[in-house]
Amino acid sequence: MANIIIRPGWYRSEREATSERLYHNRRQFIKTLGIGAIGMGLIGCTSKNGQAQANNGLANDTPEEESPNADLYPAKRNEAYRADREMTEEEYATTFNNFYEFTEQQNQVYKEVGKFETRPWEFEITGLVNKPQKLTVDELVRKLPLEERVYRFRCVEAWAMTVPWTGIPLKKILELAEPTSLAKYVRFVSFYRPTQAPNQKRATWYNWPYYEGLTIEEATNELTMGVTGLYGKELPKQNGAPLRVIVPWKYGYKGAKSIVKIELVDNQPKTFWNDLSPEEYGFISNVDPEVPHPRWSQATERLLGDPEIRVDTRKYNGYGEYVASLYEA
Ligand code: MTE
Repeated sequence: MANIIIRPGWYRSEREATSERLYHNRRQFIKTLGIGAIGMGLIGCTSKNGQAQANNGLANDTPEEESPNADLYPAKRNEAYRADREMTEEEYATTFNNFYEFTEQQNQVYKEVGKFETRPWEFEITGLVNKPQKLTVDELVRKLPLEERVYRFRCVEAWAMTVPWTGIPLKKILELAEPTSLAKYVRFVSFYRPTQAPNQKRATWYNWPYYEGLTIEEATNELTMGVTGLYGKELPKQNGAPLRVIVPWKYGYKGAKSIVKIELVDNQPKTFWNDLSPEEYGFISNVDPEVPHPRWSQATERLLGDPEIRVDTRKYNGYGEYVASLYEA
């Protein structure tokens, strides 16, 4: 049944995904957006000193100065994590998104997030832990130090970007709750608010809310981050504000956005896409150029903003030195 009904945006043939037509459409779209962004800045986003400014992501109409966390961004960059690729331009990373709660059209997500309220945002760390936690993201970012890391990001659709995330190693976040030795997996649950996220109301065939999972070793690997910022600012709504997970050696769908619950469990948790289409989306989902998706190859990827340049995909998205040992028999 899942095969018949479910058509996520990444269900495209490779030919379609790489077509020149799409590329030019996107360039045109981004150009139009540039004009729109300036307009938006003038109308809605006036800073305290009276100067108009466009804000990050072009969709969050709260001026940055109003954030109680403005002093925390940009966080100090951790130079141990550098990508050997040029950074993706911010406007590409914040206007081309996968966030099915809002729409399946990737270049429309940022326009659909207006009603989404991301502050205050309480989330819990629960399950097999000694000290269950309930706290807001604003409290979290005061409790643990933020750092910036530049990571490659690879979507199973075969597009990729390189962006500076701001956040906290997930291991540190989990430690707040003291996982017990019985905890073998970590389950993530995103929000459920059909009045704020139009596709949760419209697309009832999806099993909302979005849910994902990692093994405890993956979740506590030094690369895995709980992310609250992007490009030196708070995370735009369309990129998963106020808290998402980034697992840079896995396909992007393994990183749940706008998380409300982190649960430590002893059995492999079910995941949103695997439940919908198990033969296409596995639990582990490590980036691997040699394992094609049933519908298209994963051998190469196009860079957001630079789709004319197609580059070879690397096993573990180039992070093998950090994670290959997790998967050795
Ligand atoms: N998390 C939620 N809650 N809903 C989603 O639709 N999409 C996933 C992942 N996390 C998704 C999600 C997919 S398929 C990708 S590729 C990344 O988010 C996209 O992140 P980005 O929009 O910041 O590039």
